[in-house]
Amino acid sequence: MAETHFDEWIAAHYETLWPELFDPAVIGPAVDFLAALGPSTALEMGIGTGRIALPLSRRGVTVHGIELSPAMAAEARSRPGGHDIAIHVGDFATAVVPHVFDVVYLVRNTITNLTTQDEQVRAFRNAAAHLRAGGCFVVENYIPELRRLPPGVTTHVFADTPDHFAYERYDVANQIAVSHHRWTIDGDVRTFASPHRYVWPSELDLMARLAGMRLRERWAGWDRTPFTADSRSHVSVWERSPGAE
Ligand SMILES: C[S@@+](CC[C@H](N)C(=O)[O-])C[C@H]1O[C@@H](n2cnc3c(N)ncnc32)[C@H](O)[C@@H]1O
Repeated sequence: MAETHFDEWIAAHYETLWPELFDPAVIGPAVDFLAALGPSTALEMGIGTGRIALPLSRRGVTVHGIELSPAMAAEARSRPGGHDIAIHVGDFATAVVPHVFDVVYLVRNTITNLTTQDEQVRAFRNAAAHLRAGGCFVVENYIPELRRLPPGVTTHVFADTPDHFAYERYDVANQIAVSHHRWTIDGDVRTFASPHRYVWPSELDLMARLAGMRLRERWAGWDRTPFTADSRSHVSVWERSPGAE
């Protein structure tokens, strides 16, 4: 059963805690990429505060979202344009939105918030069930950092500034990494931890096949830089095969 780690405090401070996500140089290419797929309608799984959905909606796309955290959903609704987006509170592995869409998308590593393979497979099947034939499922995800870990080392530090210290602790036997953050904000220390099932592109391709979808494109980022052995992330697009269930 999915569990939300995004409480009211995180929802209210999301933009302060992860300012890099709100850089126009990050949001612009993501929205351009999704809009270039030409959708009239789109569904975001794990819509959060609407970081991507709101600007996509402003491009004339009818956007729906699924969000587990009522606090994140409330934050999205409170933003300018928030009421133009229909947000369904639920688990994107199982929630049913009574429409089919041209594009379903799941960004910012959010597939890894599902901590079992079964749940991730269900999310792919649920994405396919919400796509018209020929529609696209887009996932942005990071490449697991295991190549950085020498034998016996399980911890990878990925932020180390006076205001923000963060690391992932890998449990390779179970394909789980727990992210730990510690922020100092206005003299207060806040912590946040969330478990993730890290996953390689090849396993996601298999999940897509199980759900009746085929890989159409894979890039290292929204700007369509080529995906290579050194890429630290990927943006993958699978297409729902005509005739898939
Ligand atoms: C890293 S945030 C990304 C939010 C937004 N997509 C963005 O790019 O800013 C992950 C979001 O997914 C939501 N989430 C995590 N697991 C979920 C699930 N199983 N079903 C629905 N939402 C989920 C969290 O509550 C959170 O709002």
